[in-house]
Amino acid sequence: MNRRNPQLNRHGELIHLLSTEGLPRDILLHILDTAQQFVSVNDREVKKVPLLRGKSVFNLFFENSTRTRTTFEIAATRLSADVFNLDIARSSTAKGETLLDTIANLSAMAADIFVVRHSESGAPYLIAQHVAPHVHVINAGDGRHAHPTQGLLDMYTIRHYKGDFRNLSVAIVGDVLHSRVARSDIHALTTLGCPDVRVVGPRTLVPSDLAQLGVRVCHSLQEGIRDCDVVIALRLQNERMSGALLPSSQEFHQSFGLTPQRLRWAKPDAIVMHPGPVNRGVEIDSSVVDGAQSVVLPQVTFGIAVRMAVMGIIAGNEA
Ligand code: CP
Repeated sequence: MNRRNPQLNRHGELIHLLSTEGLPRDILLHILDTAQQFVSVNDREVKKVPLLRGKSVFNLFFENSTRTRTTFEIAATRLSADVFNLDIARSSTAKGETLLDTIANLSAMAADIFVVRHSESGAPYLIAQHVAPHVHVINAGDGRHAHPTQGLLDMYTIRHYKGDFRNLSVAIVGDVLHSRVARSDIHALTTLGCPDVRVVGPRTLVPSDLAQLGVRVCHSLQEGIRDCDVVIALRLQNERMSGALLPSSQEFHQSFGLTPQRLRWAKPDAIVMHPGPVNRGVEIDSSVVDGAQSVVLPQVTFGIAVRMAVMGIIAGNEA
């Protein structure tokens, strides 16, 4: 493991995926290029390659998930791995077993890759520090911190529809404060050379100090999405809000909800993305989610190939 970046080995190769922050541009592009090859596997009648035959992938989702958990399972299955989904609610976590004891016991069952979602920021880092050198950890979302495979599938989607990042304006709209997706997108977009990344929303959900990340902070939707190529709407994360950050969901929608009329402020061919799950009528109207500019469902489909690429790459590298 590299002391300065625990995701990389001493040769600078990816051994864990914990965050898009600190990942070099060439690694990001290698993941996107590898995913592009796997998209064609997913179009075949027999959607299997033997890359992870004999390997065991353990999905540990301590928080709920539909898209991430399922697409990781599909991705690992298509790579011919054996996949085990731990049912956390029925596991001995409920009896008070610690996270690291759970990992140690699953490691004793010959786990090769742990895919971990956890409400505590940093939980996948802790696990990565304690697993054996041949075991790999993928962060499937930790607290507010990072959701790197969502960030990568977002990059895949943007490149697929819009091409070179160096010509694009991308607006990330809504509850940026609580969004691990926003942070992962911002780090990936800036590393890939996107010259105009904007974060857009009310002051309580888009703190001005985000400008330190190299993005433009906008508290007006019209200014924030004006002439942009990509609009990424974020879910209002009521479950992570403590205190009165917002008067109400309705007031949020009145100022920042993405409607067909407001989408006209972006470029006419702008794409609309959302990581899901969607609060229809809050951060985005149904007619936009289901509309011609929406690429929300292709994002999900690309997520399979991107997760295949990440697992295939890290499994090929040694600590
Ligand atoms: N985008 C995303 O992380 O969705 P899930 O919570 O359903 O996995």
